[in-house]
Amino acid sequence: MSSTTTSTGAGFRQANDWNANQYLKFEEERTRPARDLLAQIPVSSPRRVVDLGCGPGNSTEVLVSKWPDAQISGMDSSPDMIDKAGARLSSVKFELGDLNTWAPANADEKVDVFFSNAVFQWIPSEKRLPLISRFIEMQAPGGVFAFQVPDNFLEPSHAMMRETASEANKPWTEVLRNRQPALARFQSTQEIYDALIPLCSSINVWHTHYYHVLENHEAVVEWVKGTGLRPFIDPLSEEARKGFVEAYLARIKKVYPVSVDGKVILKYPRLFVVAVRK
Ligand SMILES: C[S@@+](CC[C@H](N)C(=O)[O-])C[C@H]1O[C@@H](n2cnc3c(N)ncnc32)[C@H](O)[C@@H]1O
Repeated sequence: MSSTTTSTGAGFRQANDWNANQYLKFEEERTRPARDLLAQIPVSSPRRVVDLGCGPGNSTEVLVSKWPDAQISGMDSSPDMIDKAGARLSSVKFELGDLNTWAPANADEKVDVFFSNAVFQWIPSEKRLPLISRFIEMQAPGGVFAFQVPDNFLEPSHAMMRETASEANKPWTEVLRNRQPALARFQSTQEIYDALIPLCSSINVWHTHYYHVLENHEAVVEWVKGTGLRPFIDPLSEEARKGFVEAYLARIKKVYPVSVDGKVILKYPRLFVVAVRK
């Protein structure tokens, strides 16, 4: 990660860090799956809950509303996200850390619920299920590991990013050639079940397709600029980035129809898993 910083108004953000303000432009839509995931967690009054990849604290806030008496904490690898989360929920402990190596401070106090909304797709593909298993192994019987990930690898919004990246002779072609962003398709439901069931008494898996009504095609681009487009545009110079975004927008205009009221519907499939430790 570069050490360059940019002013965000409230503080300073490292270049290539997540941008909490950009992410929060679609806060309501991004938080809805956190509520839908929470609704399926079969625990009524947990003592200890951790929001893994808490982002700007929007998912953590959902947990605090449901379980005001629980000891809830959040962790995330982005300084900008952790800053925003701390400002939003001053009574919650937020910690900077990398999921790949992070563990709760006091191993004897078991975590009743590990919660993770829209995070594990950012973990390299081969590490995802071993990492989830590692967290489940830390839990006592009855503990819950609940996560949601976007399942949009094949959606036009994401296919068009890859198509734009592989255009020949563009200012971004060489930069992106050897670093086609990783965000590989998430593991299948069968792979998830087979990996986790040896540790679990039950696994509840489902998909939901959200249909987000956005103002226009530009809003689709704004949406993904906060998440999936970042690995494509973050490595580019300002000029190459501008060209990439324009070429991407032109494709988005071709593949998403305009509705009768001028709006554009962004179909967004998401995968949910609630696993209970045996
Ligand atoms: C799409 S946001 C989700 C934020 C929030 N949980 C929500 O419900 O909207 C993904 C978050 O995962 C974090 N993240 C990605 N990789 C991580 C890692 N290896 N360790 C910790 N956090 C990570 C990012 O910094 C980002 O804040």
